[in-house]
Amino acid sequence: MSRRHYDAVDHVRGTSQYIDDVPPPVGTLYATVVGSPQAKGSIRAIETAEARALPGVHAILRARDIPGQNQIGALLPDEELLASTEVAYIGHPVAVVVAESQELARRAAALVQVQVDPEPPIVDPREAFERGELIAPARTFACGDIDQGFSKADVVLRGTCEIAGQEHLYLETQRARAVPQEGGAIRVASSTQSPYAVQKAVARVLGLPNHRVEVDVRRLGGGFGGKEDQATAWACVAALAAHQLDRPVQIVLHRLEDLQMTGKRHPYSADYEIGLSSDGTILAYRAVLYQNSGARADLSTAVLERSLFHATNAYRVPNVQVTAACCRTNLQPHTAFRGFGGPQGMFVIEAALAHASDHLGIPRHVIQRRNLIREGDVTPYGQPMVRARGERCFDELAEAFDLEGMVSSVKAHNDQRGPTRRGLAVMPICFGISFTKTFLNQAGALLHVYGDGSVGLSTGGVEMGQGVNSKLRDIASQALGIRGERVRLESTNTTRVANMSPSAASATTDLNGNATLEAVRQVRGRLLALAAERLGAEVSRVDLIDEVVTLDGSPTDWSWTRLVSEAYFARVDLSAHGFYATPDLNFDTNTETGNPFAYHVWGASVFVAEVDVRRGTYTFEPICVVHDLGRSINPVVDIGQIEGGLAQGIGWMTLEELAYDDQGRLLSRALSTYKAPDGDFMPEVRARLIEDDNPGMPYGSKAVGEPPLMYGIGAYFALREAVRAFNPTARLPFHAPMTPERVLMGLYETEDPEDR
Ligand code: MTE
Ligand code: HPA
Ligand code: MOS
Repeated sequence: MSRRHYDAVDHVRGTSQYIDDVPPPVGTLYATVVGSPQAKGSIRAIETAEARALPGVHAILRARDIPGQNQIGALLPDEELLASTEVAYIGHPVAVVVAESQELARRAAALVQVQVDPEPPIVDPREAFERGELIAPARTFACGDIDQGFSKADVVLRGTCEIAGQEHLYLETQRARAVPQEGGAIRVASSTQSPYAVQKAVARVLGLPNHRVEVDVRRLGGGFGGKEDQATAWACVAALAAHQLDRPVQIVLHRLEDLQMTGKRHPYSADYEIGLSSDGTILAYRAVLYQNSGARADLSTAVLERSLFHATNAYRVPNVQVTAACCRTNLQPHTAFRGFGGPQGMFVIEAALAHASDHLGIPRHVIQRRNLIREGDVTPYGQPMVRARGERCFDELAEAFDLEGMVSSVKAHNDQRGPTRRGLAVMPICFGISFTKTFLNQAGALLHVYGDGSVGLSTGGVEMGQGVNSKLRDIASQALGIRGERVRLESTNTTRVANMSPSAASATTDLNGNATLEAVRQVRGRLLALAAERLGAEVSRVDLIDEVVTLDGSPTDWSWTRLVSEAYFARVDLSAHGFYATPDLNFDTNTETGNPFAYHVWGASVFVAEVDVRRGTYTFEPICVVHDLGRSINPVVDIGQIEGGLAQGIGWMTLEELAYDDQGRLLSRALSTYKAPDGDFMPEVRARLIEDDNPGMPYGSKAVGEPPLMYGIGAYFALREAVRAFNPTARLPFHAPMTPERVLMGLYETEDPEDR
């Protein structure tokens, strides 16, 4: 279909408008949040006199200034907007300074002294678990007979993994602007993936009904999950200040504030136990996942659930028992991040397979291939796999990119014993599409056809760079039978689409595209009925193709604009609201079984890493991918998502190292100490696409936003292989990321067999 990201030209010219590109209304004030200096403790005093004395400071707001409920928890009511008595992480918001300029607000905030009676913080999820600090009861997904599975195994291997979190690093930091409206209402512009979540939280904090809060989102400078729930607090801060002072208020986090105060991808610690037959067939898999949830629930319980769903990745495992727990620690509340817990669940079984490969002497990719899910297999959560494409993706990868040739050339390279070693790893993926909370799988769209034939489309989809607006425009114009240029995507606004789900779970185009198709069906039906009437023909004989009404397939002199204009004068309703709810989804949390996903996305990738054995630095050969894309609505956008997801996944597994000290202080709190991959680091991506029809989704398309991130796990295991090619007994615990420092240590440190 289309080959454009419609925002590209404005982005390149710098004319796209983000929140603070829109000139602030007269009288706008600026807010900054004061965070806790301690990771845990009770607030003894907040000294504000010095800050208040600065000319131009209008207010310093605290928990007691909140007119409604001081509560913004999305899934569990455990999160105050402003800490009232207890603080639970460094940076925990305790007060809001409102001043005439952002600079002044920050200067004043620095003068506010928050005195906390400190208590020893918990930073390690296992310690939290032992002390019973759980956000919700642990959950277990199981199938088969785990003990019998292990008893039949020829080898049983056990180990642990430590998986670090990840900073979202959206280019646009968290921000919002709130403008008081007549009648005590408020209008909030927010950089959020979830306008409805912001609407509900602002209403709750201000003590207003939802209809007095309007939330508008033009676009985000990246979200990546970091604004699914965590944009809410900042919007509430702006709304609280605006409401109390009756002035427009804006808050824009400085990058350093954003790094310090916002949650990240959850770090996980895990134990695994895998039982295999001597030929590498997996017979049993047991794992315990300790999620480091941070101090508040945020989306942790949903993220944990997705870790459970993806704990066996693309593999058929007859006997499974995976237990997972949200462990409360004194770090920032961790949150959604591309993959939403799936990547952490997958890493653990990939580590177990690496362990099995070391032990059995069977190449890892051979074990992976042998155990892929087949058509009709049932997942540990009871969903039968239909249109399973794991084997097909793997085999096409092996054939198209000559996997065996790659394996031998890696070996030949290493046999030269030069200054570098190479390692190869295959990474298959299987990712479920749908919100795992079934009720969230709904969407609305509001379509207006104006009298001149131009079209305005509002949906619950939020544009965050992923191209959803381009795809929705393509869907609407194709379905209407008109040129894309005629369709404008309006901002995402809670007054035009009510009760919208977050733009997340990779499902935004699926859900909002189907709602759009439903709205188009209604308006188009009315237009075609009118055309049929005017042409004196049965409606089944008329159609609208390339902006022309056709009769029995031949063009008539009724153009799109003539028909629309005629319809207007004939008093035909040219607007429609479409609604979509994904059919046949269910999940029972008592039995932990059901059909939570509309479908799965499959793929396979192969990585070759090259390690410099003197420095520990590394590069990657072009990454080869076979990806199950469905029928692409917009190939440019979709390939961009594959490349971007890969970049983020590789970064997570290699360079990006979040470090905390034992007091819960983020050490990597600037971009000088947190390294994300850049254009020079990123290898080329060679993607082959499987473009089969995906029934029920817009034009047979498939979700693409998150799945490619998980290919990045291959980077870790390719590096591990490269290190082991140099030092076969390298001490290489399954700690991610595989930074150059870890590689260097691995090259020269030898494993103590007791380590694992
Ligand atoms: N791509 C860009 N450029 N910016 C983003 O913020 N977010 C990712 C992914 N790709 C993101 C992105 C995440 S976490 C998700 S869930 C999906 O896009 C959300 O959009 P979709 O549902 O339209 O795929
Ligand atoms: N993915 C992303 N976001 C979500 C989900 C999910 O499965 N469930 C609730 N929020
Ligand atoms: Mo994406 S983590 O579902 O916003």
